[in-house]
Amino acid sequence: MKLITNQRQLTGLIKVPGDKSISHRSLMFGALAEGKTEIHGFLPGEDCLATKKLCASLGVVIEEKDTVITIYGKAGRFKNPSQPIDIGNSGTTMRLGLGLLAGAGVEATLYGDDSLNHRPMARVMTPLNSMGARVSGDSGTEYAPIKIKKSQPLDGISYDMPVASAQVKSAILFAALQTKGETLIKERIATRNHTEEMIKQFGGQIEVFDNQIRIIGPQQLLGQRIEIPGDISSAAFFIAGALLTSDSQVCLENVGLNPSRTGLLDVLNAMGADIEKINIDPHNQLGDLVVRSSRLTGTVVEGEIIPRLIDELPILALVATQAQGTTIIRDAEELKVKETNRIDATASELAKLGADITPTEDGLIINGPTPLKPATVSSHGDHRLGMMLAIASLLVKEGTVTLEGSEAISVSYPRFFEDLNTLLVKDF
Ligand code: S3P
Repeated sequence: MKLITNQRQLTGLIKVPGDKSISHRSLMFGALAEGKTEIHGFLPGEDCLATKKLCASLGVVIEEKDTVITIYGKAGRFKNPSQPIDIGNSGTTMRLGLGLLAGAGVEATLYGDDSLNHRPMARVMTPLNSMGARVSGDSGTEYAPIKIKKSQPLDGISYDMPVASAQVKSAILFAALQTKGETLIKERIATRNHTEEMIKQFGGQIEVFDNQIRIIGPQQLLGQRIEIPGDISSAAFFIAGALLTSDSQVCLENVGLNPSRTGLLDVLNAMGADIEKINIDPHNQLGDLVVRSSRLTGTVVEGEIIPRLIDELPILALVATQAQGTTIIRDAEELKVKETNRIDATASELAKLGADITPTEDGLIINGPTPLKPATVSSHGDHRLGMMLAIASLLVKEGTVTLEGSEAISVSYPRFFEDLNTLLVKDF
């Protein structure tokens, strides 16, 4: 598709769609719990719809009225799906789903699109199989289609996480909730804690101390009413758009501000961004963000902050192309195994637009500021790259930017272009 260029201003107010991580988990916890769960603010992106399909294939009744989703929990008594389930592009459905299903003793096969079928799954299969599950990849590999076979009831484990991954941690927790005995998970670096928070919200017991998580199963969760805040990972694109275009001021309403997700705001503040948090609701960890055009300087992003902004690194790379000086992103090798290799794809697509950006083994080096120029770019089938490139196009002063693979954006933000249009100042 042809993108909008030469757009120097964004103003106005939007409410970004519901948080993707919490939307997935709301469905899975709703299915696992006893009784009714009502979800408000669910993200109807393709990834979360894949989780909905997975839950339905387990015999869970899910109703949708207006924008409210109601799930009638099965207390973990799921049926085996009658056929292999296609979960599209969704790594979260696959990884959390394997924990949920293995814990419940369900037999199933899960597969996805070409991207998902090449993403590493040993990181989830290894701890689940140590608990006694029988989860295996295609022809002895770690890749999907992934089969879960019937096993003996699982045992708790003590597990030192080799990668910083909330998906892996959550898969183990979903299994542990249904397993007799104690499970202890040690994280080297803290990752997003939505699963831990939601276990408590659904009436479960979990202890978190010094990057260690202790849970004793089995536990019977109870259905709840869930209000999902806006996704900071989706807000990130408009935060960047407003910072980088002149005379802009946008208000992004009802954004989730769980500290395990707000690394981007910390980095942007250090770069000199004018971002104000208003109407903060500390109990529910949400608020509105007012973002104004800003002059930014380069920075170093590394270490413990990386999991707190892992999904925002492509858009942060774009921001860095417009900041004064050098920005270095390190310790982000996990980007290589996202929906695409986000280190290489971010570097190659932004370079086509004229950015001074070099991929490294574990991150990116970006020198700015550089004016961006017209080009044909590709999302590589990756929603976050597609949205980053759409925001980049706003900065191109003359000519056309063409984005190949823009349809990938509907994975996490089906209304992205409508919301962008709402904020664009038209020169009529
Ligand atoms: C997610 C965790 C992160 C993130 C993904 C969603 C989650 O993945 O990149 O978009 O909902 O738990 P990893 O666990 O692989 O880091």
